[in-house]
Amino acid sequence: MFGLFFSGDDRAVGLGDQGAEGSFEEVFLDRGDVLAFGFGLLEDMLEQVLTGPHDKLGVSDNGRQGGWVFRCRADAGIGRQLTGPTTSAGFPGEFRPLIADSGLIHIHKVGSTRQAIKAEHLGVDVVIASGYEMGGHTHAVPMHTFVLVPNVTEAVSVPVLLSGGARDGRTLAAALCLGAAGVAMGTRFIASEDNADWHPATARRIVEAGEGDDTIFPGVYSPARGLKSAGLAHLMDLTRQGATAAELLEYKDAAMIRAEEEGDLDSGILPAGQVACGIRDIARVAQLVPTMAAEAAALLSRLASAGQATTAG
Ligand SMILES: Cc1cc2nc3c(=O)[nH]c(=O)nc-3n(C[C@H](O)[C@H](O)[C@H](O)COP(=O)(O)O)c2cc1C
Repeated sequence: MFGLFFSGDDRAVGLGDQGAEGSFEEVFLDRGDVLAFGFGLLEDMLEQVLTGPHDKLGVSDNGRQGGWVFRCRADAGIGRQLTGPTTSAGFPGEFRPLIADSGLIHIHKVGSTRQAIKAEHLGVDVVIASGYEMGGHTHAVPMHTFVLVPNVTEAVSVPVLLSGGARDGRTLAAALCLGAAGVAMGTRFIASEDNADWHPATARRIVEAGEGDDTIFPGVYSPARGLKSAGLAHLMDLTRQGATAAELLEYKDAAMIRAEEEGDLDSGILPAGQVACGIRDIARVAQLVPTMAAEAAALLSRLASAGQATTAG
């Protein structure tokens, strides 16, 4: 999935690649600038990244966490297929007019039915209902996918995508049965050959993960989920010892970079979802996605036939 991520604070306006072949690694834009100049700015930036030298174009004084950070091995074809920015980590009210004017499909990620209803009232086109087991930043109030998604699909009439725990055709079929129109995966894409930007050890770590290997830790704007490591244990120690928010952030950033870029999964921190324990191979996205769709279709039609036979009998 290729998406733009807008978050509720100044630090996280990004354009990310969740597995599309050879696409962006990450592009962070300054939230204030985007709000001031609108999507024209975003399109200009995208164009610069796509046509320019595919490397770092600019870095703000906030470094990795804000301002202008482009790190990109771009595939121009994929980049230009951007059709839907995703807003998350807060109410997207101020972004809504920009996205509506741009003609792009507005996708918003929620962790509760109340947030989904609010988003629909705002005019959001698609809602991602993400459950507590999801990787990366999750929600302060734990709502698991299996409970949240049917609640949300009953409450709103816009299409709903299930996020949190999806990994194959069966989980896609289950999402459809819960009333969702599809799934938005994160962790599954980390363990893919297409995730060339991260150290190969990260994909192997996902594949090796067992039940109980994930845990919650304090994230930037909410709790986050990742795989247990010495680095994560040290973060929890620092939190208990009363480290300041800035100290924690600095430690976390450095630890995540150690994991993602250097493959140091001992002192590093790897954000990932609970579904890691069910992922058993390093996939190719170009095969994974159609295979998932075919498996889900076959499964649902088998169930439909079985249902008809039962009714007829
Ligand atoms: C390493 C990582 C980084 C993520 N970054 C973002 C992000 O910047 N914005 C966002 O809305 N979701 C982000 N997510 C969440 C995913 O988009 C997705 O909702 C989540 O991973 C789904 O759960 P799953 O991991 O069980 O598939 C991230 C997830 C992971 C694992």
